[in-house]
Order: sequence, then C-alpha cells, then structure tokens
Amino acid sequence: MKIAVLPGDGIGPEIIAEAKLVLDALGESFEIEEAPVGGAGYKASGHPLPDATLKLAKEADAILFGSVGDFQFDNLPRELRPEQAILGLRKHLSLFANLRPAICYKELTAASSLKPEIVAGLDILIVRELNGDVYFGSPKGIRTSTDGLFPGTREGFDTMRYSEPEVIRIGHVAFNAARKRQRRLCSVDKSNVLETSQLWRDVMTELGKEYPDVELTHMYVDNAAMQLVRAPKAFDVVVTGNLFGDILSDEASMLTGSIGMLPSASLDANNKGLYEPSHGSAPDIAGKGIANPLATILSAAMMLRYTLGLEAQAARIENAVQTVLSQGYRTGDIFTEGTKKVGTREMGQAVLNALAD
Ligand code: NAD
Ligand code: IPM
Ligand code: MN
Repeated sequence: MKIAVLPGDGIGPEIIAEAKLVLDALGESFEIEEAPVGGAGYKASGHPLPDATLKLAKEADAILFGSVGDFQFDNLPRELRPEQAILGLRKHLSLFANLRPAICYKELTAASSLKPEIVAGLDILIVRELNGDVYFGSPKGIRTSTDGLFPGTREGFDTMRYSEPEVIRIGHVAFNAARKRQRRLCSVDKSNVLETSQLWRDVMTELGKEYPDVELTHMYVDNAAMQLVRAPKAFDVVVTGNLFGDILSDEASMLTGSIGMLPSASLDANNKGLYEPSHGSAPDIAGKGIANPLATILSAAMMLRYTLGLEAQAARIENAVQTVLSQGYRTGDIFTEGTKKVGTREMGQAVLNALAD
C-alpha cells in the first residue's frame, strides 16, 4: 500500500512527522513517499501543486496531507498561492465528500470554551461537499463595475453553484453515514435567500424518500451556527455545502476542545482519500514545536479505516490517543490546570508509547 505524504507549510511538517512515526510503529509494510506541496511546492518548483506531487497523489492508494499556506505567499497571483494545492488536489482527484467528525473526548470537556455539560459526550459528523459551491463556480474575478451602485469602481464577484448530481452524490454519502449512526441527518442551507440552496433543499428532500429510516431535517446556516454552540448534541450528522461546511466545521472544532483535535477525510466515489487535519498551517505557532499533532494522527487513523481497510489499526491509534489524554498529556491548545503541558514531539512520543503498551 502506497501512501503519499505531503507535509506542506507552517506546522504541517511538524505534525506530519509525528503521524509518520505512528504509521511506522504499526508494523505494516506501507510504502511511504513524500513530496512538497503548497508554499513548499512553490519554492521547490514554482507551483503550489507541482506535477510530480500531483502524479504521486494520483498513483498512491491514499494521501496524508499536513497543511498549506503562509502570509509570505498571500500577494502571489491566486493560482500560485499555497491554498490552490489543496483545492487542486480535491478537484483533480474528485474528492467530493469531506467527513469531519467532531468528538469531544471526556478528558477534554474542560478544554472546550463551552460549559462541560454542553459538550460532554459530543459525537457529531459534519459531511461537507468539497468540489463545488462558490469555491469553484465561474465566473469569478475582480473587474471594473459597469452597473450597480458604484459604476466605474472595482468589484469582486464569485459564482455560487451546485448541480443536482453534485447534491445527490454528497446526499447519498450523508444518508449512508447517518444510517451507521443515530439515523438523524440535518441538511444545512440558506434556501430562504439563495437559489443554490433551494435546489440543495429540494434535492435532499427528494433523496430522503430513499432513506425512510433516516430522519431528515433542514436548517438555515445562521441558525445552525447558533444551535451548534447552544445544543450541539442535538445533531447527529450534518450535511452542507463547501463554504458553510468550512465555517461550521471550524466552529464545531471548538466543541471538542481545539481545532487541533479535528481530523478529516476527503473521499472520492471509490473511497480513495486524502486525509488531513481540519486546521491550517498555523503560522503563529509554526517552528515552535508546540502544535497539537493529534488531529493529524487521528486523520491517519481515518485513512487506515476508510481507504486502507485496516479497521483494527485505526482503532489502535484512536485508543492510543484516548490513553495519552487520560494520562494527562496536553499541548498548549488543550491545556487545562492539573494536566501535563507538552510539545508536539512529546505528544507524538506519548502516542507511540501508548501504542507499544
Ligand atoms: P489555522 O487553522 O492555521 O489557525 C487558526 C488558529 O488555530 C491559530 O491560532 C493556530 O495557532 C491555531 N491552531 C491551528 N492548528 C493548531 C494545532 N494543530 N495546534 C495548536 N493550535 C492550532 O487558520 P488560519 O490562521 O486562518 O490560517 C493560516 C493559514 O493556513 C492560511 O494560509 C490558510 O489559508 C491556511 N489554511 C490551510 C488549510 C489546509 O491546508 N487545509 C486549512 C485552513 C487554513
Ligand atoms: C480547509 C481550509 C481550506 C478550505 C482552504 C485552505 C482552501 O480552510 O480545509 O478547511 O477552505 O477548504
Ligand atoms: Mn477551513
């Protein structure tokens, strides 16, 4: 089994190093090949997604991705910015289904910014569509306005767009995920304002007839953002578009204690996948050895489960993470009084020790 490992920028290489050690410790014969991506790709070969990196990603069975982006690249033309690497991989490989599980481990209820009783036992799954929406719709650009309120001035424009088959395919993923859980699916949209969302809601409702055993509800995204912090445990599976899912999953991450705890899987129709933490390159803490590697380690576990068919090994990693949390190990983002503050390397080592026991 070949795994493409793309560390990227900022804390990417630091957290990926720990996830790689975890994979090495499993005793499987993975073939692991690394390649530069994002700002590192741009520096190495003038493009955030170098041809060789894309080729490797395509031929590998699975991809483990760190994070991309740094303010030093923010003034490059958009097509050369680091973020285009992850957007390009998702698009080129048709990774349309993004699973972001927000689980609050009992040891971390105190680390959440919400009251412990609101988050204790939380286990929700956000299913985010990843290939469409305003992210990829054309036309988009910046131009001189010829109409509107201020003709002759600059205006920016993007196109929010979803086709029926795109909604259907992510809908199936979400309904099937709900079937394996509490059979409750909440579809989040903004159909009171947006035509894209009206189509989304209509299609989800029609699809729901094929899943009579799953309770389908609909919620506007503004209300969903509020309900997520009011009563997050009322949700089971949430399905939503690319932009709303991006925002809601960052919000959900704080319910688990930190964005450093939120893994993700981005899957195609055949469960080939790219696995990455939901967070970014965290330039504010990069190079300090203090980033939380657990979201990346848990992403590696998702890779073993969804793409490589190694459920027992995935569970081993998740149990090891649970163990280190109960032993009191905490990176700064999840630190609370009475626990042991450690850096990235020590946290990774604690997971390795727990795996060896
Ligand atoms: P971010 O997720 O990188 O950081 C937000 C905050 O969370 C920061 O304070 C950071 O220190 C903290 N944080 C994130 N991950 C952490 C971890 N593992 N441990 C401890 N703290 C952690 O988001 P941002 O600051 O908005 O973006 C920074 C850069 O990352 C930008 O260039 C952005 O485009 C990029 N980005 C990339 C991805 C990706 O590669 N998939 C995802 C999100 C953002
Ligand atoms: C994420 C990130 C990306 C997104 C950026 C870096 C393009 O925020 O993976 O959540 O918006 O999807
Ligand atoms: Mn995001």
